[in-house]
Amino acid sequence: MKAHIVTLPGDGVGSEVTAAAVAVLKAVAEHYGHRFDFEEHPIGGCAIDACGEPLPGASLAACRKADAVLLGAVGGPKWSDPNAPVRPEQGLLALRAALGVYANLRPLRVHPALAALSPLKSERLQGVDVLFVRELTGGAYFGAKTRVADAATDECKYTVAEIERVVRRAFELARGRRRLLTSVDKANVLETSRLWRNTVQRIAADYPDVKVEHQLVDSMAMLLLTHPARYDVVVTENLFGDILTDEAAALAGSLGLLPSASLGDGHRGLYEPIHGSAPDIAGTGVANPTGAILSAALLLRHSLGLDAEALAIEAAVARVLEHGPRSRDLGGQAGTDAVRDAVLVALADQANTSRAFFSGVRACG
Ligand code: NAD
Ligand code: IPM
Ligand code: MN
Repeated sequence: MKAHIVTLPGDGVGSEVTAAAVAVLKAVAEHYGHRFDFEEHPIGGCAIDACGEPLPGASLAACRKADAVLLGAVGGPKWSDPNAPVRPEQGLLALRAALGVYANLRPLRVHPALAALSPLKSERLQGVDVLFVRELTGGAYFGAKTRVADAATDECKYTVAEIERVVRRAFELARGRRRLLTSVDKANVLETSRLWRNTVQRIAADYPDVKVEHQLVDSMAMLLLTHPARYDVVVTENLFGDILTDEAAALAGSLGLLPSASLGDGHRGLYEPIHGSAPDIAGTGVANPTGAILSAALLLRHSLGLDAEALAIEAAVARVLEHGPRSRDLGGQAGTDAVRDAVLVALADQANTSRAFFSGVRACG
């Protein structure tokens, strides 16, 4: 198939990990007979430096025309002055809103070979397989903001429609998994959370085959550490989802491992690792590209419908996590390029094996 992919490497390690993910997508195209073309655009701090705005019109226009968008990360100390008139992160939020990608899927699996890297005891990590569905275009991130000399506000607003569409998506995803949906809110305090809970309760009637439970976000933060394996799909609002998924990444062994897919109603999606621009290691070539590479796999699955190719990337990554080389965040010595190259070798091996298998089938048939 043919696909047009826009890349937005952004700032810090964003460009380093995006380059690795693009190399993997190019290898997939070659091995499986697809044609992907790539168009790169600025976003974030580098776009502020180049054009004075974090999401230049040309970058957004290109994303709107793309089949999928692959993003690295935005932000960094250079643009983090609290008094700055414009911030890199505004570009990312504007992009998510403009593309209407309200459902942010953040899958968490703990590879057995990495269990020792987690701060949790290994036995608690057995079988951890959670899909977080984070609402991405509403809540405090997008509410009105005010600031006077001695006070500030961030409005947190949700409409029923905003809650309903992401919750329905989570129910649908739960149907394809273990059929347990945990809705996380703060309904004991927040009105938006009470609307959220009412909405989940009403929609649950349409999904009688899915078991639904409600959990307050503070205790959820604890339960994620004590009983991570009992969760299947976890749906929550924007800010809670942001915080819980960085916490969840620690279970997997590193923030550098987790991918994400941001989806709206159509096929076009925005794909990014969940980590940031990692200013402390940017430019040193040691960033773990795994979260970005797994985001490329999600791109193939959700925007291009190439599930077998997505599985091939995931299997290649699993092989590298098991046998190495490993990046520094995982206790190894390998740089970004060495991890990328190992994934490329694993991918090529798999493509050769499946080619040999299919030519064997043809010869026999
Ligand atoms: P961060 O995710 O950038 O880094 C947190 C820690 O994790 C750092 O020690 C970093 O070195 C490590 N880390 C992150 N990614 C890694 C990788 N791929 N390999 C190895 N180690 C990795 O979070 P932060 O320091 O709180 O934020 C830095 C900047 O990134 C901020 O400006 C923030 O707004 C931005 N940010 C952007 C995104 C995004 O663009 N999607 C996401 C999160 C944070
Ligand atoms: C993320 C990031 C962003 C968020 C920031 C950079 C706006 O932390 O993608 O998780 O909070 O959504
Ligand atoms: Mn985050």
